[in-house]
Amino acid sequence: MMRILLFGKRGQLGWELHRQLIHLGEVTALDQPDIDFASPESLRPLIQEIEPNLIVNAAAYTAVDRAEEEPDLAHQVNAVAPSVLAEEASKLGAGLIHYSTDYIFDGSLGTAYREEDEPNPINTYGRTKLDGERAIAQGCERYWILRTSWVYSFRGPSFAQKVLTWSRSKKQLEIVTDQVGSPTWCQILATATTHALLRGNTDPPNWITRHAGIYHVAGKGQCNRYEFAQELVNSDPRRDEHCLEEILPAKSDQFPSLAKRPPYTPLNCDRFENTFGVPIPDWKVALRLAVEEYA
Ligand SMILES: NC(=O)c1ccc[n+]([C@@H]2O[C@H](COP(=O)([O-])OP(=O)(O)OC[C@H]3O[C@@H](n4cnc5c(N)ncnc54)[C@H](OP(=O)(O)O)[C@@H]3O)[C@@H](O)[C@H]2O)c1
Repeated sequence: MMRILLFGKRGQLGWELHRQLIHLGEVTALDQPDIDFASPESLRPLIQEIEPNLIVNAAAYTAVDRAEEEPDLAHQVNAVAPSVLAEEASKLGAGLIHYSTDYIFDGSLGTAYREEDEPNPINTYGRTKLDGERAIAQGCERYWILRTSWVYSFRGPSFAQKVLTWSRSKKQLEIVTDQVGSPTWCQILATATTHALLRGNTDPPNWITRHAGIYHVAGKGQCNRYEFAQELVNSDPRRDEHCLEEILPAKSDQFPSLAKRPPYTPLNCDRFENTFGVPIPDWKVALRLAVEEYA
């Protein structure tokens, strides 16, 4: 039976992955405080003891603004630790699945980004995630880097979760129109990952090698944050609890933040869909199912 080592089991994505990967093999799922990506060397003995056939890394430093104040920590977690995972996976002949972000792009392209488009991160988080991608590509051959964007769930403090909470406590919301992306329900991302793996039938490490590389996996289509919020509010099955009267369009410079956000980073997922034959649902279809989870 395949041994799978999952990092970041309590994160938005890791929580969903844990529930899906158990269909593929025996899963050892870990998170802080049992592991600490800020001490990357501490990961080596742990990986060597478990001897996984597949490592799935959903752990990351994802606090985009705080990363501007803690660049070294963000670098350790998002770049150095993944380089250790790659080296250890390579020694074991294991596959490595890692997640990256639309924030490795500067948002100036004007069309949905493809995998071969030039990265040019404009904030520390994006730079550390790009460093992580490069470390993995250099450190091992059996890897998939799945770049995703605007990941949400209703278990943690995501944008989506906040909008539905605010709609119950505020009459008016101001949401920006000048950030465009592809909202991704974490369950869709976990399912797409698992289905792509299942296409490899019984030998995931070799399947990963055969299709090694970077893939974009995000909700299909695009919207701005304002449209995302509108759709969330309109799709909420418990709309009767709302006191929200209107959502006003706003601009990002009305809400100063430590990190700059790229203005336009929808992801084109054709490569993933065509390679694995796994269709990715439209972001609105996924969202209507996702909001039913909001308790
Ligand atoms: N969220 C987004 O909008 C978004 C967009 C694009 C790409 N991504 C990428 O998608 C992947 C999954 O993101 P997500 O939204 O599921 O992230 P998340 O909810 O923030 O989960 C990240 C997980 O990593 C853990 N972690 C943080 N620092 C750690 C450390 N020093 N040692 C060990 N574990 C640590 C966190 O634990 P604690 O909770 O205890 O800190 C958490 O369980 C990441 O690679 C992220 O970069 C996310």
